[in-house]
Amino acid sequence: MYNKRVMDHFQNPRNAGDMDSPDGVGTVGNPECGDVMRLYIEVQDDIITDVRFKTFGCGAAIASSSYATEMIKGKTIEEALQYTREDISDGLGGLPAKKMHCSNLAVDALKAAVEDYRIRRNASGAGPEDKNGDCE
Ligand code: FES
Repeated sequence: MYNKRVMDHFQNPRNAGDMDSPDGVGTVGNPECGDVMRLYIEVQDDIITDVRFKTFGCGAAIASSSYATEMIKGKTIEEALQYTREDISDGLGGLPAKKMHCSNLAVDALKAAVEDYRIRRNASGAGPEDKNGDCE
């Protein structure tokens, strides 16, 4: 059902786990199946410098999440937000048509994490370089 690249990311997920002090966290559920993904981002100078994820979902969701973290790490926020589920599927060498919805989790979780990052930054009155908001 899955190609080798998908299986590799499923069995050896990159950037899986928690992050101690994330700058943004996004948690989303897939309305088609109820699976859930949480994405943590660290941002410096508008660049996503680190990323971690936890996905409670199928193999395609875990592989998509893993691949998405590789795609967005080192990118600016605006660059990362340009990625679509088709980009993820293409990068993985293709997902079965009935599994395309699984790649939505990563795209939606990134949007949620960026929104959270922007809210935190605005709430602290800090610029992108002052992620802890402790510059009084
Ligand atoms: S079946 Fe739920 S994310 Fe794949």
